[in-house]
Amino acid sequence: MSKDNDEMVVTPWEVKGKIDYDRLIEEFGTQRIDKKLLDRIYKITGEKHFMLDRELFFSHRDLDWALKEYEKGNRFIIYTGRGPSGNVHIGHLVPWIFTKWWQEKFDTRLYFQLTNDEKFWFDQDLTFDKVKQLTYDNALDVIAVGFEPENTFIIQDIEHIDMMYEIAVQVAKKVTFSTARAVFGFENSMNIGGIFYPSMQAVPAFLHSWIYGKKTPCIIPCAIDQDPHWRITRDVAEKLGYYKPASIQNKFVPGLQEGGKMSSSNPMSAVYTTDTPKMARKKVMAAFTGGRDTADEQRKLGANPDICSVFKYYNFIFMPDDKELADIEKKCRGGEMLCGECKQILAPRIMKFLEEHQERREEAKERLHEFSAARLRDEIRR
Ligand code: TRP
Repeated sequence: MSKDNDEMVVTPWEVKGKIDYDRLIEEFGTQRIDKKLLDRIYKITGEKHFMLDRELFFSHRDLDWALKEYEKGNRFIIYTGRGPSGNVHIGHLVPWIFTKWWQEKFDTRLYFQLTNDEKFWFDQDLTFDKVKQLTYDNALDVIAVGFEPENTFIIQDIEHIDMMYEIAVQVAKKVTFSTARAVFGFENSMNIGGIFYPSMQAVPAFLHSWIYGKKTPCIIPCAIDQDPHWRITRDVAEKLGYYKPASIQNKFVPGLQEGGKMSSSNPMSAVYTTDTPKMARKKVMAAFTGGRDTADEQRKLGANPDICSVFKYYNFIFMPDDKELADIEKKCRGGEMLCGECKQILAPRIMKFLEEHQERREEAKERLHEFSAARLRDEIRR
């Protein structure tokens, strides 16, 4: 592998190379979630979460502040989102599952933004019809995660622009092109929709405060590649009379193929929520592992879970039990368990998960209105 290929690039629109999370924290200027903060979270939630313990969520901005406000009785809302550029896969669901836990434990509102404008502007090949179809399809996946409908508001940028534009124009006026270019690396060849777009991603952080006329803290669970957006959002927040949004940031969830990349050009690299369970099983059985060339060798020398995509799936979603995970890691390193056998444990778990998700996804088709942010229109005082 050449050095160039390995060079880390992390922007909201491109993630490549070998990811060094310590360096990201340093370069982005975020904070690590340390033991003290973790204890503070658990004191409120009364329950641990393996995605925090295992440092999938590892970085933050102002989370300590937002929790302090919460303890004082100043409750926050949460905000997350997704750009509907393709079908949802299991990797996407991982942070959403955490967000659901966070919503339940803090009994708080969730604003979930589907940025169909963003994907339409940033993906040259995406037609308008296609992005609308994907918005609908992705909303079904969001609902299928099991968020509480009375506390969940799915925002679709294009459809709900009337509720967003007042905030977006005010954000846009405060951000110069030179700032946007410096933060996002925009180039002259870009369409002007994309240049305006960051003002749209800022909106849900302020929407609740704006609708109810009460400054309300906001916590954004998101992958760390979205952080440049929050730098802009935080920069304008106080100028517009809002709190700076806090964030809790996760690592990238790896795919099933070598190098851990999930890529839409390689359908084997991810299990999509619409895959048949049988197809999912096939993908698991073909997944990249840290195994040796021959069974004999592996029994003698053991395998390497650190580079294994199957082990990452256990770690991040399918094996929340620490003891079970430690046990499988030990058997893997010691050569006691071979990769085929290990995959046989993962496959039925993914299949069962998919079956249940797909059932809820089917039901979601009748429930879109229960989750739609459109129902907030009546609450807006102008
Ligand atoms: N830009 C994000 C994406 O491409 C979507 C998004 C919008 C988002 N608002 C968000 C993601 C808030 C996390 C949190 O997927």
